[in-house]
Amino acid sequence: DWTMAAYREQAIEAIRKQVGDGRVLCALSGGVDSSVAAVLIHEAIGDRLTCIFVDHGLMRKGEGEQVVSMYREHFNIPLVHVQAQDLFLSQLEGVSDPEVKRKTIGRLFIEVFEAEAKKLADAGKPADFLAQGTLYPDVIESVSFTGGPSVTIKSHHNVGGLPERMNMKLVEPLRELFKDEVRALGRELGLPDQFIERHPFPGPGLAIRCPGVITREKLDILREADAIYLDEIRKAGLYNTIWQAFAVLLPVQTVGVMGDSRTYEFVCALRAVTSVDGMTADFYHYDMEFLGRAATRIINEVRGINRVVYDVTSKPPGTIEWE
Ligand code: XMP
Repeated sequence: DWTMAAYREQAIEAIRKQVGDGRVLCALSGGVDSSVAAVLIHEAIGDRLTCIFVDHGLMRKGEGEQVVSMYREHFNIPLVHVQAQDLFLSQLEGVSDPEVKRKTIGRLFIEVFEAEAKKLADAGKPADFLAQGTLYPDVIESVSFTGGPSVTIKSHHNVGGLPERMNMKLVEPLRELFKDEVRALGRELGLPDQFIERHPFPGPGLAIRCPGVITREKLDILREADAIYLDEIRKAGLYNTIWQAFAVLLPVQTVGVMGDSRTYEFVCALRAVTSVDGMTADFYHYDMEFLGRAATRIINEVRGINRVVYDVTSKPPGTIEWE
């Protein structure tokens, strides 16, 4: 579309002007905003952009690999892939409080990112700028997502703490755009549709979809169930109608029967909501056939789950995520 083509040129010029011959670091999350920002900045300054992808082991099935191959192969953007799974999972051991999970993940993220930035500086490539996929709604309302005016319901983890700590200047090429415009710009830049239409995914990842303590085993079970659920949603042609859909692995085991033996396994909850901005949301009204199909597949294909329930809570009073 012509407006986005023009915007693209204008934004590239602005980035060149701001950055001069400096270097930029970008923390990739796998989400649409940071990706569009990265691709745009790469067009502007080429390999003076380095992307850092911190893999915390809390991504969905296959997601880490997809991010890495898209940047390296599709866009040819220099990418540091930090395998920090062991660090994150060991520090989260025994943690069940949702806020402690978020804070631990946020703190580790900054530590890992800083260490990588230092490595680059030591290698003679110090960065002067930090890229962020800040959107216009974030600019006008910096109390993001959930918070009412005075209460913090969830402390959102994102890269917000980074610039002050690292004393870096910000490059925010999406500051004037709304989400749908970012998507249009992403298309203009050649990001694959499947990527652009992706549901939002929280910074703390599967940690907040696994109430109670997190174990590798639980994360593996959750990843399998979630992948099947999303596969059924895509097959039913519902992916783009739904704002966000995911599986939650409950820390509850129930009795079931498989063949002629008794089972005692976890309960999986399915969530799907429609929303405009994530501030309020309605639970999605599936037909029961769909839910039955998804539940049967999950129970048959995922070892460790013997019961599936559907969450019919809207926001408010519920939040979208369970933690
Ligand atoms: P809630 O659960 O608060 O979520 O209704 C609203 C939207 O925000 C996402 N979310 C997060 N995103 N860090 C993020 O980057 C977080 O800690 C976080 N918690 C929730 C959630 O997925 C939904 O899109």
